[in-house]
Amino acid sequence: MKINGQHYRTIWLAQDGWRVVVIDQTRLPFRFETVALGSAEQAAGAIRSMVVRGAPLIGATAAYGVALAVRVDASDAALAAALDLLGATRPTAVNLHWALSRMRRVLSGLPVEMRAEAAYAEAAAICDEDVALCHAIGEYGLPLIREIAARKPAGQPVNILTHCNAGWIATVDWGTALAPIYMAHDAGIPVHVWVDETRPRNQGAALTAYELGGHGVPHTVIVDNAGGHLMQHGQVDMVIVGTDRTTANGDVANKIGTYLKALAAHDNGVPFYVALPSPTIDWSIRDGLRDIPIEERAAREVTHLSGLAEDGEVRSVRVVAPGSAAANPAFDVTPARLVTGLITERGVCAASATGLATLFPDMANKAA
Ligand code: MRU
Repeated sequence: MKINGQHYRTIWLAQDGWRVVVIDQTRLPFRFETVALGSAEQAAGAIRSMVVRGAPLIGATAAYGVALAVRVDASDAALAAALDLLGATRPTAVNLHWALSRMRRVLSGLPVEMRAEAAYAEAAAICDEDVALCHAIGEYGLPLIREIAARKPAGQPVNILTHCNAGWIATVDWGTALAPIYMAHDAGIPVHVWVDETRPRNQGAALTAYELGGHGVPHTVIVDNAGGHLMQHGQVDMVIVGTDRTTANGDVANKIGTYLKALAAHDNGVPFYVALPSPTIDWSIRDGLRDIPIEERAAREVTHLSGLAEDGEVRSVRVVAPGSAAANPAFDVTPARLVTGLITERGVCAASATGLATLFPDMANKAA
C-alpha cells in the first residue's frame, strides 16, 4: 500500500543486502520512521516493544530475525538459541511460532555453510506468501461487502466496524480485515469504516485511521465502547476483525475488546466476520478459552497515554489516579458460535471444525 504516493511493504532488506528494515509503528501516526535491524536480538526487541506488531508481520520479522542470527553463526546451537529468543517475544500470535517452525524445518536439514543464504530466501518467501494470502483474503471478502451494498439504497455507504489494526501495517502488505475494504473502495463501492480506538495502545486510532486515511477510505474513529450503541441504531452493517490465533474449531483470539464487539453484533443481528491467513490457524488446539495463551502487558500501557502535544512533541501523560493498580490483558477469545464466518485465502467458511476442514482438508487431517 502507499504512503504519500510511494508504495511500501512493512518489511524489506536494506541497501546493504543483509539488514532488515521495518517501519517503526510506535512512532506512527505522527512520525514515519524506519529502523534497520542488524541482529536477532534487535529483531526480538522490535517485536517485544511493538515497533512491529500484528500477527503476520510478527511472523515475518521473526523469520528475518533467524536469518540475521545464522548470518553470524549458523551452528545448531546458535540456530536453537535464536529460535528460543524470538519465540519468547510475544505469546499469543501463533504466526510467530509458525514462522519459526518453518525456519527450523528448512535450516536444520542443511549443512551449516548453506544456512544463511537459505534463511534469507525462506524469510523472503514468507513475506511474499503473506502478501499473496492477504490479497486472496481481500478477493474473498469483497463479495460480502458487495452483497450488503446491493441491499442498501444507492450511494449509501456500507458501514463496517473494525477493531485494533488488521490492515497492511499489521501484515507485509494489504492486511487481513482491511484487505476486502481496500478492494471494495477501489471497486467504487461506497464504504465507511468505524474504527475502534483500541485502548490501551490505540492501534485503531493511530494505525488503522492512518492507513485508511492514506488510501482515502472514509472512516470515523470511535471510542471502544461506542460500537454496541451504533449497532443498536442500525449504523453498523458488518464487523470485520483480524485475529492473532484461531483454533481448529474456529475460536478467535484477537485484541482485547473484540469479544464485546462480537456479543453486541450477535445481539443486534450484525454479521461478524474474522479475516485470517491460514498461518494464523493453530490446528493443535480446539478450545480457545482454555488453550490460547493471553499476553499480559505492562500496566503502564493502561496508566499512561501518549499523543501529540500542542507544542508538536509526542508526549506521554498519566491518566490513572496515582496509586491505583492496572491490569492489561492484551487479547480475548471470541467463541466460534459468535462468528458469522472466517474469511481466508481459500474462501469464506463457517467458524467450525467442519467449516475449516472443508477449506483446509490437508491441515485438518494432519491435526485430527
Ligand atoms: O498486539 P497487536 O497490535 O500485535 O495485536 C494485533 C491485533 O490484535 C490485530 O487486531 C490483528 O487482528 C491481528 S493481526 C492482523
